[in-house]
Amino acid sequence: MKKGLLALGIAALLATGCKQTGNTEEDRFIESLLSQMTLEEKIGQMNQLSFDQPLDSIKAKIRAGEIGSMLNIDPTLINEIQKTAVEESRLGIPLIIGRDIIHGYKTVLPIPLGLAASFDPQLVEAGTHMAATEAREEGITWTFAPMLDISRDARWGRIAESLGEDSYLSGELGAAMVRGFQGKQLSDNDAIAACVKHFVGYGAAEGGRDYNSTYIPEMLLRNVYLPPFQKAIEAGAATLMTSFNDNNGVPASGNDFLLRTVLRNEWNFDGFVVSDWCSMSEMIPHGFAADRKDVARISANAGVDMEMVSQTYIDHLPELVTEKKVPIETIDEAVRNILRIKYRLGLFENPYVDDVEEGMSTIYSDEHLQTARRAAVESAVLLKNNGVLPLKPGQTLAIIGPMANAPHDQLGTWSFDGDKNRTVTPLKALQSEEYKQVKYLYEAGLDYSRDTDTRNFERVKSAVRRADVALVFVGEEAILSGEAHSLSNINLIGAQSELLKAVKSTGKPVVMVVIAGRPLTIERDLPYADAILYNFHPGTMGGLAILDLLYGKENPSGKLPVTFVREVGQIPMYYNHNNTGRPAHNQIIPLKDIPLEAPQTSLGNTSFYLDSGKDPLFVFGYGLSYSTFEYTDLNLSNHEPKAGDTLTVTATIKNTSRVDGTEVAQLYVRDLVGSITRPVKELKGFQRLFIKAGESQTVTFELPISELAFYGRDLQKRVEAGQFDLWVGPNSAEGLKGSFTVTE
Ligand code: NOJ
Repeated sequence: MKKGLLALGIAALLATGCKQTGNTEEDRFIESLLSQMTLEEKIGQMNQLSFDQPLDSIKAKIRAGEIGSMLNIDPTLINEIQKTAVEESRLGIPLIIGRDIIHGYKTVLPIPLGLAASFDPQLVEAGTHMAATEAREEGITWTFAPMLDISRDARWGRIAESLGEDSYLSGELGAAMVRGFQGKQLSDNDAIAACVKHFVGYGAAEGGRDYNSTYIPEMLLRNVYLPPFQKAIEAGAATLMTSFNDNNGVPASGNDFLLRTVLRNEWNFDGFVVSDWCSMSEMIPHGFAADRKDVARISANAGVDMEMVSQTYIDHLPELVTEKKVPIETIDEAVRNILRIKYRLGLFENPYVDDVEEGMSTIYSDEHLQTARRAAVESAVLLKNNGVLPLKPGQTLAIIGPMANAPHDQLGTWSFDGDKNRTVTPLKALQSEEYKQVKYLYEAGLDYSRDTDTRNFERVKSAVRRADVALVFVGEEAILSGEAHSLSNINLIGAQSELLKAVKSTGKPVVMVVIAGRPLTIERDLPYADAILYNFHPGTMGGLAILDLLYGKENPSGKLPVTFVREVGQIPMYYNHNNTGRPAHNQIIPLKDIPLEAPQTSLGNTSFYLDSGKDPLFVFGYGLSYSTFEYTDLNLSNHEPKAGDTLTVTATIKNTSRVDGTEVAQLYVRDLVGSITRPVKELKGFQRLFIKAGESQTVTFELPISELAFYGRDLQKRVEAGQFDLWVGPNSAEGLKGSFTVTE
């Protein structure tokens, strides 16, 4: 569709010199438009509706200037609905069209937790940019991503959507996502506005139950939960979403401290804030607002600019302004914030999406499929390998398990738009040109991950006996993770563990390939697998990526962005915890070995679980490769740096194997004595290095000492002088250790 006639007011504004870029022109444009708006039109801009009413009724509201944004609209209707806003409403202000494009639009990338396992900001940026390009091609101008909630609890279904448990990694990758979505400039036809969410603390839901309360003291909030948001805002994120949870008793959509003091005053955010879906009206069941009018008053005054779905603004703000319970200046500021992003998206000049010429669509283009394949390769983590991998050409495979051919589930949570018919499952990949020479027998054994019917296990065993090696694809269906899908038991579900045992009983080598939305508790399954490749739902190209890795066409390089616990009862367990006064040294004591009537203190009074010890199953940052790497020669440029200095840290990494490979080298520090207790380790840098077989490379980290600053009891951020330990290594538990002293 060609660009339509803009309503007179805006056409005139754009004609009066406002086409030049720059803040002044932007501000003049916004002020001029604002001055023409009635109170009702202003409040209309603050109202976002979901497309769940009849089209005519939505159009009538748009015409009346009552809607500023739509979400969940069928993309084929975008131009039609935009035309109503631009050509039939009094001021012709275009809508901003939002949609959850979380890990790819139509070409689906691995879920964000998988992307995080790549430790690869360039790849994450490229993948996210791919998603933006596809989405904007269909007229979508705003996504609700990235989700930057620190996730230390695998029961929480939304860990799938997170970038893991670490602030530094989440911040680096979150900023990469913002750059990827927003491209060079928002008005480009391959850019959409990002929305960092959920502000804040949502991932700390008590018990891992979604939407539950959180209790995060300000010091912890500032040291752990806020930094990824700040980095994403610094990267230019256009919008931010408040979360559902109440923290320390204050629901996020009513938290003026976070939205005004932190976000606007400290971080100078100039985009707009949207509430989560009905998170404003949910302040009533929270017991924080008395009624819908109270909701509108609290959220507007707290600094929520746009209301998602619950419509208390449109119903009550006019009255609240008249009663002077919400200042008109507050409304004006919210509208300015919204118009600013619409302006930057170029919507006033070019509100419509052009038809794509035949054959020119980027959706499912070869380039995008390749990006998705690469992302799936880099997102997989090899957790165990006793030598069965890589597979050898000529081996006959037994393809077993419910996730071997689960085209919908492989896409993972939040893939509204991915077409399961385009999904390349592992089974489908075996039928591709590249792998069609592989001989295999397929016997799923279980129809889906929750299936408990073991009646086909004899057929499975018979297939495995006729093969050289068994690949057992287990994990979780997409529905078992994501929003509102928390679990209290995170073992392999259904009869999948039994399936693995049945396969192992044949004596054939077993490769366990997990495809799941969270880190599952798989300790009980380890003895039945000779190798384990863990994939967080890998998206459209997952099957090919998995075969590439299993056959050694690609060398695994992913590292865990979350701790894998042994037992669900160990949660929360994360690498960057503080020490107790009684750190444990002991390993698990089998419960049966505890002598009868043992004296109470005979087991040592330290901090561990009698039944599962003090350690997780796999630590943060862990991941194997077909190569082996050796770290030597740690060097620090200065052992007594001052607060303003930058430390250069180097180490040599040798690929001691006969296979080329990529290593993710990680830099950790520990502040030994602080004015508050400090984490036993904190990630401060990571780098992916491709190292040829037998060769060595020097990894260099520049560590500004200012990066060691933290918020202390007085809530001031500063570096404290004193001694620090430092590690450069392959994960959060191993590495070369050095130390330095920060001097005054
Ligand atoms: C609720 C979810 O919490 C949020 O992440 C999402 O973006 C919105 N719904 C819109 O679908």
